[in-house]
Amino acid sequence: MALMDKAREVRENAYAPYSEFNVGAAIRAASGAVYVGCNVENVAYPEGTCAEAGAIAAMCAGGDKEIEEIAVISSGPQPITPCGGCRQKISEFAAPSVKVTLATTGGVTIETTVGDLLPGAFSLSHMGEG
Ligand code: THU
Repeated sequence: MALMDKAREVRENAYAPYSEFNVGAAIRAASGAVYVGCNVENVAYPEGTCAEAGAIAAMCAGGDKEIEEIAVISSGPQPITPCGGCRQKISEFAAPSVKVTLATTGGVTIETTVGDLLPGAFSLSHMGEG
């Protein structure tokens, strides 16, 4: 199954009763395994988590640490882009060249990269460690 189809499928499981905005994310890791995540909201609003964060957590739980490709899907007129926090989370496990595909359920698709989403990402090099 294509990566975006995995994201589309897991989006159905999103728990978003407050925003009513379901998001699905799928990551293909270096091992070839695919990990998925959906947004999970909470009545204490800041405790909600994004789809990308869920997919990253699943990836680590599955024993992978290197993202090779990501797909994110939501409804709306245009594809969403990962929030600032998720861009940093993705950067932790992905090279700047990694492809990010963003889609709407209606079929609009944008392709970008991790580096284009978060230029100048904070990294270990800023602490003089790599
Ligand atoms: N959301 C994601 O899951 N990923 C993003 O990249 C942006 C926003 C979620 C968070 C919240 O549950 C809902 O979308 C509305 O912001």
